[in-house]
Amino acid sequence: MRPVADQIGAACREHGFFCVVGHGIDPVLEASLERAAQDFFALPVEEKMRIAMQHGGRAWRGYFPVGAELTSGKPDRKEGIYFGSELAATDPRVLARTPMHGANLFPTSPPELREAVLEYIEAMTSLGHAVLRGIALSLGLNADYFATSCARDPLLLFRVFHYPAVTTSEDATWGVGEHTDYGLITLLKQDEVGGLEVKHNGRWNSVPVVPGAFVCNLGDMLDRMTRGLYVSTPHRVVAPRTRDRLSFPFFFDPSYDARVEPIDGIAPPTATRAHRWDDLDLDALDGTYGAYLTAKVAKVFPSLG
Ligand code: OGA
Ligand code: NI
Repeated sequence: MRPVADQIGAACREHGFFCVVGHGIDPVLEASLERAAQDFFALPVEEKMRIAMQHGGRAWRGYFPVGAELTSGKPDRKEGIYFGSELAATDPRVLARTPMHGANLFPTSPPELREAVLEYIEAMTSLGHAVLRGIALSLGLNADYFATSCARDPLLLFRVFHYPAVTTSEDATWGVGEHTDYGLITLLKQDEVGGLEVKHNGRWNSVPVVPGAFVCNLGDMLDRMTRGLYVSTPHRVVAPRTRDRLSFPFFFDPSYDARVEPIDGIAPPTATRAHRWDDLDLDALDGTYGAYLTAKVAKVFPSLG
């Protein structure tokens, strides 16, 4: 494990991005997920709108059409579905009307999407814990550091995105505009179209497509916990030109009620950070991860309020 942890540490300090291979996620499961997602997005928009996010309420689940989600105030050129942990109406967090907690909205067609999504979330949760064990070791912490602290009950968000190819007459550049992710780690499955770009020393680099690998990147909370030693790196997606693209980001985040604080002894409290894309000061955050996330969400989907 040591050499792997060292490689993870080097990647987290330099790029905040790395590839995960040899992860053991079943390729048959991945293929069924891809097929079901393709079938869903091929439906007429009226059909897809039957599970629109407006029906998901506070759980923040369901479908949104192209142009409905904003990044840095501008509409993204993508459509997608939001999923999360499947919670029963009797779950205490659902009864307490906690935002982001509840049941998923699954379409009736294709029926296979439901099982593929639920199985995928379960498998990716184990993988998320495994990657965080590596990240903990790379920081000189016990392997179970995250699982026994801020990620005891991780908040899981799973999104399926479809980026339609841009026609020549359109002037759309960004599938997703520049942003950072909010939580601990994101594990991205993508098809072979590509288009993800990552900022490094002020320059944009495209992320190569490695078949079978997940792209892992760090979110704002790991950046905050390490006082910027591990970077939550700005990234964006170029709108595809020749064919549609599918991507499947899985967000493995701190528990909703966790107060995420810098880890003692990781980096000097005086460390200074680069100016952020959203002007936010990660050192100055106060409150729970849930509060941070809901404030972010209000900017991304103003209409859902
Ligand atoms: C995101 C993201 C990349 C992609 O959803 O935060 O960066 O390829 N997605 O869809
Ligand atoms: Ni992102």
